[in-house]
Amino acid sequence: MRTTGLSRQLALSLSGMVLGVMLLLHAGFYLFYAIVMRVNPALVSPTMDSWPPTPSEWALIATLTVLGLFLAVNTALRLSRRILQPLNSVAQGARQLARGDLSVRASTEDRSLGEAVGLVDDFNSMAERLERMTRELVTWNAAIAHELRTPVTILRGRLQGLAEGVFEPDEALFRSLLAQVEGLSRLIDDLRTLSLADSGHLSLHRTRVDMAAEIRAIVDLMAPELRAAGLEVQLALEAGPLHCDAARLRQVVLALLENARRHASPGPLRISTAHINAEFVLRVEDAGPGISEELAAHIFEAFVRGEESRSRQSGGTGLGLAVVRAIVQAHHGRVACQPGTHGGTCFSVSLPDAPDEDSAASGSPPPG
Ligand SMILES: Nc1ncnc2c1ncn2[C@@H]1O[C@H](COP(=O)(O)OP(=O)(O)OP(=O)(O)O)[C@@H](O)[C@H]1O
Ligand SMILES: [Mg+2]
Repeated sequence: MRTTGLSRQLALSLSGMVLGVMLLLHAGFYLFYAIVMRVNPALVSPTMDSWPPTPSEWALIATLTVLGLFLAVNTALRLSRRILQPLNSVAQGARQLARGDLSVRASTEDRSLGEAVGLVDDFNSMAERLERMTRELVTWNAAIAHELRTPVTILRGRLQGLAEGVFEPDEALFRSLLAQVEGLSRLIDDLRTLSLADSGHLSLHRTRVDMAAEIRAIVDLMAPELRAAGLEVQLALEAGPLHCDAARLRQVVLALLENARRHASPGPLRISTAHINAEFVLRVEDAGPGISEELAAHIFEAFVRGEESRSRQSGGTGLGLAVVRAIVQAHHGRVACQPGTHGGTCFSVSLPDAPDEDSAASGSPPPG
């Protein structure tokens, strides 16, 4: 049996109790008179309208009342214990939660009281969410500090060397300093986009855009780098207008192409767009080395990276795909990472084709 409502339980229990008391009364009176009339009829009133009752009748009334009361108190106590146990558990849990113990969970021994079970389950999922958010916050802070430390250390070392005359101020040095500063500003931009998306304030400036033309322009711009990475771009773009924030979607395409350039093996890189069932679908598929199933399940989370890129010097921060997901979700779309048909990875982005009324004007809060 799943859960039954608290009100139903109360009604059932109290009706049962009243029925029990009534049955007890009827049966008690019946039995009493049956026995007494046979054994000693003088013990009862000779006529029905005589008042007051005889002492033995008083004794019967008192016994039945005490029995009925006992039954009622017993039922009420048992019922209140069943109701109070989960409530007390939640109250105690809330007190512990307020003291900072986020691992606390409430429990209920009796899962037949629907509302009480609902309360306990809701409390537990709230505590779980709080615990997860706190854990994520700690991880985030550590990851951000880690990502900031490397460029800042390099910048400090080089600038100190320049100030003390250890380094010659030449173009190569300034370019490497500039690269560190660019990396830092990209990190800050990504973090800003993610925090705006998290708080539901990632504003979109939607216009009608031909994404096919936008993608072709980006590919042209990146062609030398993609070629240098051994990638042979194959385009299958379906022209057609899309109601979206062009700048943000360019950011999505750039992040996916940049990932292919940095993480994919040399070979064909297929980029396709299609308008299918009121959805715009963009696919970017490479030819290897692919992403394992376990990693693919978390690849859109911030700071998640494969072992390869973690160990490599050129490895990024692991924010690129998190930003992609945040932008796509702000458009009420979906992202996916699946094994490609040629041994590589296929990233797909699906966006609703039709402008939706509530978010078409300016921004749109991302779900969760
Ligand atoms: N096309 C791909 N082929 C193989 N692995 C990939 C591919 N794209 C992404 N990855 C893996 O997914 C991880 C996360 O990608 P993401 O773009 O979020 O971060 P990143 O590229 O490491 O850093 P950045 O923040 O600079 O983009 C990468 O580190 C890499 O391990
Ligand atoms: Mg990336």
